[in-house]
Amino acid sequence: MPGIVIVGAQWGDEGKGKVTDLLAEQADAVVRFQGGNNAGHTIVRNGTSWKLHLIPSGILHGDTICVIGNGVVIDPKVLIEELEELRARNIATTPERLRISANAHLIMPYHLMLDHAGEAKLGQLQIGTTRRGIGPCYADKAARLGIRVQDLLDEKILKKKIIAALEPKRLSLRPYAKDPRLDLQTMTEEYLTYGHRLEPYIADTIRLVHEQLDRGRRVLFEGAQGALLDIDHGTYPFVTSSNPVAGAACIGAGVGPKDIDEVWGVTKAYSTRVGAGPFPTELDGGMADEIRERGGEYGTTTGRARRVGWLDLVALRYAARINSLTALALMKLDVLSGFDRLRVCTHYRGAEGARFDDFPYHQTVLHHATGEYEEMSGWPEDLRECRDESDLPLAAREYLQFLAESARVPIALIGVGPGREEVIWTQASESLVAGNSGSPTPAAAR
Ligand code: IMP
Repeated sequence: MPGIVIVGAQWGDEGKGKVTDLLAEQADAVVRFQGGNNAGHTIVRNGTSWKLHLIPSGILHGDTICVIGNGVVIDPKVLIEELEELRARNIATTPERLRISANAHLIMPYHLMLDHAGEAKLGQLQIGTTRRGIGPCYADKAARLGIRVQDLLDEKILKKKIIAALEPKRLSLRPYAKDPRLDLQTMTEEYLTYGHRLEPYIADTIRLVHEQLDRGRRVLFEGAQGALLDIDHGTYPFVTSSNPVAGAACIGAGVGPKDIDEVWGVTKAYSTRVGAGPFPTELDGGMADEIRERGGEYGTTTGRARRVGWLDLVALRYAARINSLTALALMKLDVLSGFDRLRVCTHYRGAEGARFDDFPYHQTVLHHATGEYEEMSGWPEDLRECRDESDLPLAAREYLQFLAESARVPIALIGVGPGREEVIWTQASESLVAGNSGSPTPAAAR
């Protein structure tokens, strides 16, 4: 012990990569537990930008063990490209540094096709997926037709499983019938080649994680996406096909709830969402454009412009509950500098005038809900040089205090710029497991 889970507390893209990167400095292992290359984690170190989709953000630290857990869906082509890019940039990606669960499921060429076809069929009603094959891959996993990493090591089994998986998809795949990627022999050979390449990394990752925990090592469980995109708890059906909440760390990494000591929720100082679905605090027009430009709110994976809105405390309180958050990391506070007035959504108003302090469970209610706001003073100062809470202007501190009190979760870390050094470790971080010997040690950082 300890085990620390890092999850998104909004609709993804909150800055989990940066938080993981910072906490990973003092961690012995970092485990990804769900999602796939629909995620994109950006980390800026010494002015250099790193974009990771599958490999845990801890890979940038010399001796941290990185694990891709059983709950992740892996596109092996993307994983190999990511490994090669890291190696070309002199980051060690030896099997001592990276382990891949033999039980993780693989994204196959037909999953990509089905994702495209499914969205096209939905037309106006489409979810706006990243089209990386995530949904169809998790669907096959649940239908027990999935191909797992371990299957890459046995040609006969691989072929048999591909045949079984393709059979029920014949009709949906008809438009792709002539696509060479669907040819059984070609697909088997392509995936066997990936298998050869990945074989040294394939491991019993559950045992590895337990060994780390048993030795008292610090293990981070790195989530992808965010609570409101959770297939059970998010804005269904406008969600991803996995569970990005903290409880899923147990399933996707093979640990029990007692192995988790802390849960850090990452949120931005405002909200964003990519793809379709309800977004009660959404802004449009000039204000949205300005926040989008300042915050660089374009998808890491797809390059899509993100929808932008005010901070939504109804959603944040909900995320705090369903994740049992013990700390918040609030990112991109600097992006809000220069606005005279800021708004924070405290509750929703339904179409029929009802007030909602809690996140509405009903899809229709949520679709018509609009945010009602507390208006707060903005601050003109640039925050990028601030390294201590006391460096922040009073209005910024009031904004943070209002947020933490409403969410009932202390803020441990504040992001004031894209660089990894552009953060403030708050006093609250000192009492947390991660902060006790966290890095930079909060007290020392002051
Ligand atoms: P999928 O995960 O590709 O199936 O997409 C389902 C929904 O989740 C879409 O609205 C995507 O835009 C959204 N989504 C998936 N991954 C991410 C992410 O990493 N950040 C933000 N949104 C995401």
